[in-house]
Amino acid sequence: MLRKFLQIADLHLGMGVAAGGEGGGREREVRRRFRALVSHMARWHADAVFCVCLGDIAHRGDAEAYAFFKREVSHLPFECRVLLGNHDAWRTFSEAFPESIEGGFVQSAIEDEAGVFLLLDSVARAKDGSLLTHVEGELCAARLRWLREKLAMYAGRDVFVMMHHPPCSLDVWECEGFGGEREFRTLLEQHGRVRYVFCGHYHRPMSGMWGGTGLSCLHSSVSHQTLLPSVEDGEVGRYRYGDEAMSYGVLWVDADRVLLHHVFYEGVEELGYAEGVIRRRE
Ligand SMILES: [Fe+2]
Repeated sequence: MLRKFLQIADLHLGMGVAAGGEGGGREREVRRRFRALVSHMARWHADAVFCVCLGDIAHRGDAEAYAFFKREVSHLPFECRVLLGNHDAWRTFSEAFPESIEGGFVQSAIEDEAGVFLLLDSVARAKDGSLLTHVEGELCAARLRWLREKLAMYAGRDVFVMMHHPPCSLDVWECEGFGGEREFRTLLEQHGRVRYVFCGHYHRPMSGMWGGTGLSCLHSSVSHQTLLPSVEDGEVGRYRYGDEAMSYGVLWVDADRVLLHHVFYEGVEELGYAEGVIRRRE
């Protein structure tokens, strides 16, 4: 029996406010989209076990943005867990979501009959503990130790990892490093039953393999998208943004299958039913 889990990412609430001027209109539009997203999830996926927001809830870590987020997701008929992104801010985030913190980081393990979901904190820290807003992610020694303990605790169980930063480069530019990548990958391989790594941060829907593990990213669910770079693009590492359609992730899991669907919740013109009906298997 397929179990359903939802994923949203990279809301960047407050980005339009910070821009000022026309940014106010942009912010209103992003918040309108977020309300539409929440309504869509509640309408079509009330049977989800839980939702996870994969980081960058707020563009500059405004407390007001976190309050808005909490107020809106409280309308969902299931829990919405959160991850830290490089645009979030530690003080306001940790005050808004104290229950998401374990051992000083935004990390937790969620046990489900489909497997264990390990939510990891991939945001780099400065020496004084503040968040580094640069784009590269990391798992420091303390977080790798936490992960090692959890993987040992859940030996023999299927594991799904969720984190903000992808653990490897995702395109021709090969420009984003990930601190602790080798140790991280070794831990996952040693466990042997890590079925998938789900990420945000890239603002593009993407799926593939990283070593022997499935790897995916999501669109921003309400804000700007990254346009796929090519070798023809000008400055390496300077991504172009666009306002292409937004989507969120609907993940179905059973013993055989890990199925991540990208759902476009606005601008979809329904054209009626298909002529044939595919039989449901018994
Ligand atoms: Fe982001």
